[in-house]
Amino acid sequence: MGFFDDETDFVIPIDGRVEAIAKVKGQGKYSAEYKVDNLCHGVLVTSEIPSGTIKSINLDLARQSDGILDIISHLKKPNVPGFANEAKIKESKFGLPVFHTDKIYFKGQPIALVIAETLEEATYAASLVKVEYTTAPFEVDFNKAKNSVELKPAGKERGDEKSWSSSPFSVDQQYGIAAEIHNPMEMHATIADWYADDKLRLYDKNQGVNSVQKMFAGLFDIPVDNIQVISEFVGGGFGSGLKVWPHALAAILGAKQVKRPLKLMLTRPQMFHSVGYRPASWQRIKIGATQDGKVTGVLHQAKNGCAIYDPFSDGITRVTRLIYQFDNLKTENAVVPLNLSAPTWMRGPGDCTGDFAVESAMDELSYQLKIDPVQLRYKNLASEKNPETGLPWSTNYLKEAIEKGSKMIGWNLRQANPGSISEGDWKIGYGMAVGMWNAGRNKASAGIKMMKDGNVVLQTAMTDIGTGTGTGMVNIMHERSGISRNKIKIELGNSDLPAAGNQGGSTGLSSISGAVAAVSDALKLKIAEYASATNQNFKNALATDIILSDSGVSLQKQGDNFLSYQDVFTKNNLNVIEVEASSEAGEEKKKFSFCSSAAHFCKVKVNTKTGKVVVDKMVVVVDGGKIVNQKPAANQISGAAVGGIGMALMEKMSVDDKLGSIIANDLAGYHFPVNADAPIIEVAFINKPDLNLNPSGAKGLGEVGIIGAAPALANAIYNATGKRFRNLPITPDQFF
Ligand code: MOS
Repeated sequence: MGFFDDETDFVIPIDGRVEAIAKVKGQGKYSAEYKVDNLCHGVLVTSEIPSGTIKSINLDLARQSDGILDIISHLKKPNVPGFANEAKIKESKFGLPVFHTDKIYFKGQPIALVIAETLEEATYAASLVKVEYTTAPFEVDFNKAKNSVELKPAGKERGDEKSWSSSPFSVDQQYGIAAEIHNPMEMHATIADWYADDKLRLYDKNQGVNSVQKMFAGLFDIPVDNIQVISEFVGGGFGSGLKVWPHALAAILGAKQVKRPLKLMLTRPQMFHSVGYRPASWQRIKIGATQDGKVTGVLHQAKNGCAIYDPFSDGITRVTRLIYQFDNLKTENAVVPLNLSAPTWMRGPGDCTGDFAVESAMDELSYQLKIDPVQLRYKNLASEKNPETGLPWSTNYLKEAIEKGSKMIGWNLRQANPGSISEGDWKIGYGMAVGMWNAGRNKASAGIKMMKDGNVVLQTAMTDIGTGTGTGMVNIMHERSGISRNKIKIELGNSDLPAAGNQGGSTGLSSISGAVAAVSDALKLKIAEYASATNQNFKNALATDIILSDSGVSLQKQGDNFLSYQDVFTKNNLNVIEVEASSEAGEEKKKFSFCSSAAHFCKVKVNTKTGKVVVDKMVVVVDGGKIVNQKPAANQISGAAVGGIGMALMEKMSVDDKLGSIIANDLAGYHFPVNADAPIIEVAFINKPDLNLNPSGAKGLGEVGIIGAAPALANAIYNATGKRFRNLPITPDQFF
């Protein structure tokens, strides 16, 4: 008996992850790790210039290289019906028409795929491809380019801007955040296998197998069911897996070309320009207030960088329309096309960025007004209803989260005067910020297979990117059905299973929980129906009256009605019972608004000689509805908060504006927090269910763990030092 003994049957601790054992035993396969017979390898050749056209590609040398099978490029465009013309390309929403254009939009753009027997042979041959370009002017500097785009209204203006322009107190400031890269631990990879003429199987790292399936069914004009997408274990995503990217299409085209399964895994440097990033942003916040701390009006303007071929807007001003009762509010935005790859949603997308500006401005206002930042929040929170829709919140416990967080951090130890607390060379300060996220729910389906011995398999196509979705599903089914956790096996991340939306936008568990509840009920009813062949009392029994155990079924109300699964299966001549059910948002959306929220508090130490910032303590209190699994939920929030530390203090995509290259494009050059940079993050949950949203009462967690983190840190740094930083990341050199 040992930890890695395959014979051993481990019991997962009650708050542990269902996939934990598979992961530590090396059985949890990432996409690139599947064994497929007759596999060959693809390596991308990418553009060496940031803008222009391809004049010529010379493949002769590469073609003579050992092990080479073929090379794909725009010289002989592979057949992709979805790229047949400009209109179709646009309609496909794929973004970059890879291998279908000679235009270069960014440095690192895939322009050819070299296919060989081994990865080494493909890598070497790719180095032999010679490309000549006609260069064109380019722009990669967001700060320079941002001035030439015009702002447009983002949402309906509330009230009137003029009415508050002469408020007695005001802040009018600008904020900048560097572009950041998702960099999940697992590299994006695709194994493409055309196992029949028009039948495709993909092992692909993503956050939604059904979306990938639909995208490629559209591009290749084949039925959705002809494509199977498998993404069973995902080593982190942070949003990079919510879109379908050129490398996945390249793998599919390569496999088709050589009529063999093909694997394409991005390198870490390629990850910096192939799978999205949080775009660089500029914001302006103008905010007015009365002496007693009531905000009179807000102007929030935002611009974010995007690709020339993909005008992605990050939704930066959305959060400002949500948290507070701002009666006068104007929000505007714009995108700034650059010679960079396309950005996408990343870790609390948009709201995280917008919240930094609005929560920094609120903090600044609090010092001007000499009102405690916590009190200033209380005075302005939209606690009763969603200020945007006017609908009452179904549940909103942000105020409670603030109260709890201020106790946990020891907010009473904060000094209102910046720079008041010193310890040797260190200045100490406290800061806080709040964040909110629209709690959503998408249509999702789940299935159950039950065997005679009472073991069940609970299935859905939804992926689990490490957030604990599978674990939550087991808990919900256990609570709903009565069947023990260790009898429930999870299967997910496979498009052959009941369909579900992406795992993103903090909607994963919120969406799937309804389906799990529904399918648990469906199982009860099905078993009762079969049981009624033996015992009439089961006929037309209600799901709420039917009790399942590990060995059989019984009825709540009547006494001696127990029937073993053995008996039920035998009597009905069954080997397996299968049920499937779906669930989606309904009428409740017309009656209520839904939000998750969090309050971030932190204590920082800033070294006056070196400018080093140490996050001494961080507290995150979350209203995410019912917490269906404490440990993964707390992991998710502390992980998100670490992302916030990265955003505030370290993370930055560095672009060489002379060459248009992304530099420091590895995990040594791109700084993010390691354990030594992150304190023990104390996470607490309000843990009150929102049963209007879904039957589990869970509201979704991921994003609110990061949204307020960066402003809370910047605000704490101001409290410690009296220096207000409005540009992220805040690096030591900026203190001097
Ligand atoms: Mo998240 S940015 O919805 O993976």
